[in-house]
Amino acid sequence: MAMLSGKRIVLGVTGGVAAYKAAELTRLLVKAEAQVDAVLTEAGARFVGAQTFQALSGRPVWQSLWDERMGNAMAHIDLSRGADALVVAPATADFLAKLAQGRADDLLSTLCLARDCPLLAAPAMNRQMWSNPATQRNVAQLRADGVSLLGPASGAQACGEVGEGRMLEAEEIFDALVASLQTKSLIGKKVLLTAGPTFEAIDPVRGITNSSSGKMGFALARACAEAGAEVTLVSGPVALATPSGVRRIDVQSALDMRAAVSAQVLGQDIFIAVAAVADYRPVQSAEHKIKKAGANLNIELTPNPDILAEVAALPNPPFCVGFAAESRDLTQYAEGKRVGKKLKLVVGNLVQDGLGGDSNAVTLFDAAGAHPLPEADKFTVARGIVAHIAGLIKP
Ligand code: C5P
Repeated sequence: MAMLSGKRIVLGVTGGVAAYKAAELTRLLVKAEAQVDAVLTEAGARFVGAQTFQALSGRPVWQSLWDERMGNAMAHIDLSRGADALVVAPATADFLAKLAQGRADDLLSTLCLARDCPLLAAPAMNRQMWSNPATQRNVAQLRADGVSLLGPASGAQACGEVGEGRMLEAEEIFDALVASLQTKSLIGKKVLLTAGPTFEAIDPVRGITNSSSGKMGFALARACAEAGAEVTLVSGPVALATPSGVRRIDVQSALDMRAAVSAQVLGQDIFIAVAAVADYRPVQSAEHKIKKAGANLNIELTPNPDILAEVAALPNPPFCVGFAAESRDLTQYAEGKRVGKKLKLVVGNLVQDGLGGDSNAVTLFDAAGAHPLPEADKFTVARGIVAHIAGLIKP
């Protein structure tokens, strides 16, 4: 099923040059099967015409409080009634000011005031307008009123200046909207995760590691945060941005990861071990760079502690979830890990093309049996795993 199937979104477009990104946002929303009702302010319609939104949404576009197409002259109430969200993108400085004051002198501001759904606004303006104390006052007021402000970002502006005030890209607004519509299935829960590879030093410049990208662990951290959990992510060396709202602790080796996990684990409700922890580390890491020599070089390795098994063996352990990436006999190995490490859930996947891809096909193994999830991108898979965990921890 598409991500926004059955959702109705009111998209408000106010007068900024970033209005062209609202056209792309409409396309993304429609592709995800949302029903989009675009509402343009007078200034918004000067940047992108109503026909564009009408063609992209396949629905009438609204511009006036006095529109006669709404038989009862109640466009300001009927349009937002039953909507799942109202998104204003771009939201100009003037529109934010209007919202903060609760004014209702055109269709969009009236809709915002009369709504009974969440309101998200993506500010877009010149950097000085954004940093002006008046705008910042309005922004603080809107946050206090429960409006979700998306961005702005920093960067080159249409006026030629560089700074904060650029509207987020359509895809970022889309992601934030989808996130805001998710069920808050982990609200009040604390989740600790490990992600990425570990790096076991041989000398100051060399080490043993693996090709784990960290993408699955980061996607899960994001999905947990989106579900309302308080998330701590212990990550090995990866080149990934921290998901919003996630507390991140960077580590290098398995021993560092174990120390960080031990320091954080108390009071956690859920522990999800996604990291591809190196099974072995050099017995000794040379103090100085090892010099090349003609003879063979032997590096003695010693096993690393199993962080997940240690956490699962604590007296009052959190709900423990492990991963099993196998190249064959998935069910047998995944079940073996679930029972052997005393886990509530194992996420198993058959690794054919190595680690680090963008999509994933996994099967969830719990006490009730095996539950395959459809192959999808890692974030969609992460949402599926979170929904399954939430179902299992429900009292
Ligand atoms: O036993 P195996 O390494 O295949 O188990 C994989 C699971 O155990 C993963 O969830 C991984 O994060 C976790 N693990 C760990 N510490 C290790 C090895 C694996 O937490 N030293």
